[in-house]
Parts: sequence; structure tokens; C-alpha cells
Amino acid sequence: MKIANVEINGHSALAPMAGVADAAFRRVAREFGASYTVTEMISAKGLMYGDRKTAELMRLAPGEHPVAVQIFGSDVEAVRIAVPLAVEGSRADILDINMGCPTPKIVNNGDGCALMRDLSRAERVIRTAVAASPLPVTVKFRLGWDEGSRNCVEFARMAQAAGASAICVHGRTRMQQYAGRADWDMLARVREAVDIPFVANGDVCTGADAASLLQKTGADLVMVGRGALGNPWLFREIEAVLAGREAPPAPDLAERLSVAARQIEYAAADKGERIAMLEARKHLAWYLKGYRGMASYRARFSSVTTLAEMYAVMDEILERRESLE
Ligand SMILES: Cc1cc2nc3c(=O)[nH]c(=O)nc-3n(C[C@H](O)[C@H](O)[C@H](O)COP(=O)(O)O)c2cc1C
Repeated sequence: MKIANVEINGHSALAPMAGVADAAFRRVAREFGASYTVTEMISAKGLMYGDRKTAELMRLAPGEHPVAVQIFGSDVEAVRIAVPLAVEGSRADILDINMGCPTPKIVNNGDGCALMRDLSRAERVIRTAVAASPLPVTVKFRLGWDEGSRNCVEFARMAQAAGASAICVHGRTRMQQYAGRADWDMLARVREAVDIPFVANGDVCTGADAASLLQKTGADLVMVGRGALGNPWLFREIEAVLAGREAPPAPDLAERLSVAARQIEYAAADKGERIAMLEARKHLAWYLKGYRGMASYRARFSSVTTLAEMYAVMDEILERRESLE
């Protein structure tokens, strides 16, 4: 598929996930076959004010293309200033605007999914970004604010008319946050309403899920969020199933630990060992999900502060692997 002039070779994308899908995790996801990635969301105002932490979020993994840099904001002037900064600072291929984030801190400022309740402002934000961006602009949003206002079809048409080159829709409302099931039937209605490329998102945890989401919605790409946490092998599985091949065998404990270690090494190189080790806790818990007797190791991982200490705990787990698998 193509988003404007940007070619995406594959069917699966890693969803943007603030605090989780950093350059290190995106790199590993791509190693296992994710064909498109998006940065964590970046505040337009933060960019405008030159916030250093904000700028760090724009870091791409080596060779990470095609990739989108994602911004959020509802202040049109901030968006106008932030867009070229995001494009130049990241060297991404696409600029994505977040209009789906449900968290109170974001929506209480009128940003993220709050824009689904203010179509004229959302339209101005998109038009402003399109005018300010040398790159194609895409928009990611939800079904609507709540059950009574599922306006995603109208929103999709508005985004297309405002110049968006593609849209991505997560099949839940803002009020659902991440609970309940994503409504794939509604996503199919969005697909029918627009001509631009459509990315479907919500509840893909297996290759079979991806196949049925694509089949049900006619989407051009599936986007996977939580299903990929601690499980970058999911992309390999999705691509295999969609190509009509058998899903490759699930990784064993040794492979899980080795890929987790690689991801955390990438993160340490990017952010420094101390921060990487703090952030590693949640990733390690995801990588080890489903194994017996992990509680004590999770606690041990919580107190490690260096890669060397982490490797030592991993070695202990491997020594005991027979009783854990
Ligand atoms: C921890 C976390 C952080 C997220 N951060 C972002 C974000 O920065 N930008 C965004 O557009 N969506 C964000 N999302 C939403 C995901 O991109 C995705 O739409 C959602 O998780 C549904 O997909 P899934 O069912 O495959 O997880 C986040 C989701 C999670 C769980």
C-alpha cells in the first residue's frame, strides 16, 4: 500500500504507544516484520516551546522507514509552528495527528479525542498541519466520544476533505478507553466512507485476528498495540498468516529473554542505562507473561539498575527453565 508517495511493504503496523513504543521497541518490532511504525505522541506545544524531553521523543531507530512522527494538540498556532519542527527534528516520512488519546490530562486541554467533539477545530488543525507539512499528513482517531456520539464516519470524511492522506481508526470510543471489544463492523463503515488509505486498529492479538480484521473491514493495514507488548513475534506471525503460510512456532523462553535483552540494550544506548533499566521492568514482565513462578524474578528485575545485573537474573531464569516452561 501507499500513503501518498510513501510505500509501505507489508500489512502490519506497530501502534503508537506513549511510554512503551519507544525507538528501541519499534526497532525490535520491525526486526520481526512490522512494516510501519509511529513515534510516541509528541506535544505540539512542547515542540513550540523547545522542550528537550519532547525533542527526545522524535528519535527514530536506525533505518526506521517508513515511519510517522505523531503530534497532538488543538491549538492551531502551536500546530502550525510544531509541524515543521516535528518533520525536521524527526526526519520521518509521514506526519500523524493524534485525535484519539482518551486520557484526562490530554482531553481536558481539548487535545486528543476531545477534538472528536469539536469537528470545526479538528478540521482547522488538520488543514493547518497539511499546509505546514512537506510530508503527507494522517490522522488517528476513535469511533467517537461515547456510545451516543459515534461520529467516526463523519469525522473520517471531514479528515479526508481537509487533506489527510490516510486515516487510522481505533474501534473504541473515548469513554471505553481500552475496555470492551473494538467494534470492527463500525470500522468497515469508516472504510466505505473514504477513498484514502485506511488503517484498522483494535484487539489484534494473533495472525488470525489480523486476517479477520482485514477481511471484515477491507482495511489496507492493521495496526497492533497491546498485542505486541513483549511479543514482537506477532508481526512475523501476522505476515505469515496473511501470506497463506503456517504461523512460525512461538518463541521459547531463551529466545524471549534474548530479544528482551536486545530491546533493553537498544534503549540503554538511546536513553542511558539508568532510565532504560527503570523502563525495562514493564517490558520484562510482558516478555515473561504466561510463565510459571515469575513473580520473584519480576521483583528482582525491579531492583536491577544495570544491564549486567539484568543479565545475571536472566541467566538464573534460564538455569531453572525446565521448571518454568
Ligand atoms: C500504553 C499505551 C499508550 C498509547 N499511546 C498512544 C499514543 O501515544 N498515540 C496514539 O495515537 N495512541 C496511543 N495508544 C493507543 C494505541 O495506539 C491503540 O490505538 C490502542 O491501544 C488500540 O489498539 P490495541 O487494541 O491493538 O492495543 C496507546 C495505547 C496504550 C495501551
